[in-house]
Amino acid sequence: IKKIGVMTSGGDAPGMNAAIRSVVRTCAFHNIECYGIYRGYEGMIEGDFVKMNARSVKGIINKGGTVLKTARSKAFRTKAGRAKAFEKLKSEGIDAYVVIGGDGSFTGAMVFNEEYNFPVIGIPGTIDNDIYGTTHTLGYDTTLNTVVDAIDKIRDTASSHNRLFFIEVMGRDVGHIALNTGVGAGAEEILIPEEDLGLDRLLESLRRSKQSGKSSSIVVVAEGDKIGKNVFELADYVEENMTEYEVRVSVLGHMQRGGSPSCFDRVLASRMGVKAVESLLEGKSNYMVGLKNDVMDLTPLNKAIKGRSKINMELIRVSDIMTV
Ligand code: F6P
Repeated sequence: IKKIGVMTSGGDAPGMNAAIRSVVRTCAFHNIECYGIYRGYEGMIEGDFVKMNARSVKGIINKGGTVLKTARSKAFRTKAGRAKAFEKLKSEGIDAYVVIGGDGSFTGAMVFNEEYNFPVIGIPGTIDNDIYGTTHTLGYDTTLNTVVDAIDKIRDTASSHNRLFFIEVMGRDVGHIALNTGVGAGAEEILIPEEDLGLDRLLESLRRSKQSGKSSSIVVVAEGDKIGKNVFELADYVEENMTEYEVRVSVLGHMQRGGSPSCFDRVLASRMGVKAVESLLEGKSNYMVGLKNDVMDLTPLNKAIKGRSKINMELIRVSDIMTV
């Protein structure tokens, strides 16, 4: 392997820049050429490449977003799109790549690998932490801190007005962000897709907390939770059935994906970049790098996608006890 490409794909996550920096510098360390691929698979199809060296990634370890930009490519889902991408990589002489992204990005990498036997290693970059084979995806830790900070601020106004707040956090299919920030910020209830609390039990729990002397409450709702049609309808339902509280909704939205990465994410990104490049150089392909018991590990891409990381059930019990 002489030239390695690096790209970010799918939803951006804090720490992606630190991972790009690590890939580029690990290539430099091993005297391998490195090319940035702009806008994920879109840029691969268009041949939007930039030659990078150790100095091109200075001053980005602390930056949110991704300097290589990102996209969710429809064209790469077609055979014709992938054929174009292969031609562009070949004509530039790129013979392996590192993709930093989530399950959609890894699915694309696997299909491409099946068709063209093109060496690839994935770095899990998504705030959702919904990937099997790593206890932490890149960006997840930063997002937890961002969300806890936001909930703390909402609590100030909630308690000043004796209000009940429903706070929707990201997590398309999983409740990791909701569960951890809910415990971390002391939420009254945490609604996640993995556990169906039911409307009756929710009302019961909120009534109980009111009776126990609480004047305000926070309910953290994962975006993917199915209890109500959406968080606004859920809030309306609760307000209609519980006159004890004045209810408000706050959807935190995309601010959860921004900001400077935490130290944890910067270190994780640096480790993952080294492992990804060195794995390619050892002839490995079609794996994702991950963190397990504080050791860098490899998981086959198909397992990483299908496995889905499980939520920590202990946290549900801890939350129940804390809100006694
Ligand atoms: O997968 C990361 C994520 O931030 C999800 O939590 C969220 O549902 C989704 O991306 C939002 O995607 P978009 O950037 O298309 O709005």
